[in-house]
Amino acid sequence: MFESKSGIFLVAGFGFFILAFIVMALIPITIYSDEKEQTLAEIAAEGMTHEFVDLAERYPERFKEYFGAPTEDSFATALRRGHKIYVGEGCWHCHSQFIRPISNEEQRWGPVSYASEYQNELQRPVLFGTRRVGPDLIREAARRSNDWHVAHFYEPKWVVPTSVMPSYKWFFDEDGYPNRDGMSIITYIQWLGSWQPEYPYWDGRGPTPAMVADDEAADDRHDEEVSTS
Ligand code: HEC
Repeated sequence: MFESKSGIFLVAGFGFFILAFIVMALIPITIYSDEKEQTLAEIAAEGMTHEFVDLAERYPERFKEYFGAPTEDSFATALRRGHKIYVGEGCWHCHSQFIRPISNEEQRWGPVSYASEYQNELQRPVLFGTRRVGPDLIREAARRSNDWHVAHFYEPKWVVPTSVMPSYKWFFDEDGYPNRDGMSIITYIQWLGSWQPEYPYWDGRGPTPAMVADDEAADDRHDEEVSTS
């Protein structure tokens, strides 16, 4: 077997497969299997988002009917429902939830993802996603206002004329107000990344903070060049 080249390749092929399995599956399992997973109740106990309270103020009667008062419990209920909708509607076909340390993703969406962000009930099933027809959403919290999301889910092209995202009219009641599903998905989207010490990263109107910092650094360099020449 070892006398032919193909025999060596065959053994090497299986060898590397086994090595990859050990390094990428068995070792992480032994390291992380005892890690505690954050429950939804624990997530909610960390505090309601400002946007959840904003929904309660904006649509008082409807909010009361769907969730009661804005409390930890109702926040958890809305998050659970929003998460189910995200999974059920297949939002993950077009959106990832994972910032990689490449391709300027940090400048486009915010800090690179880290393992503990995914150690919770709302990442079961894990929603990393594999396709990016639309932007990554793991840093979406407070990047847009609730109003923006209402308009966007009703008809994406109203706010982003070139959008290929489908409209989700069934997130709204007959009067055009977000219904229980609509408020839940907005609560979920506005929660994504709200655990970061600083957010949002972009107010939707201009370049990201990182791009501004880069520009300022470039301006400084330019000024120096001008003054020394
Ligand atoms: C067919 C692909 C597709 C599907 C399915 C889809 N989206 Fe999108 N989404 C997009 C595209 C493309 C954009 C960028 C253009 C825009 O803002 O509409 C986008 C933008 C967004 C944004 C705005 C992000 C930002 O800050 O600019 C949010 C939030 C969003 N989608 C949430 C969702 C949710 C929640 C679902 C499921 C209910 C969903 N999307 C389903 C393609 C999709």
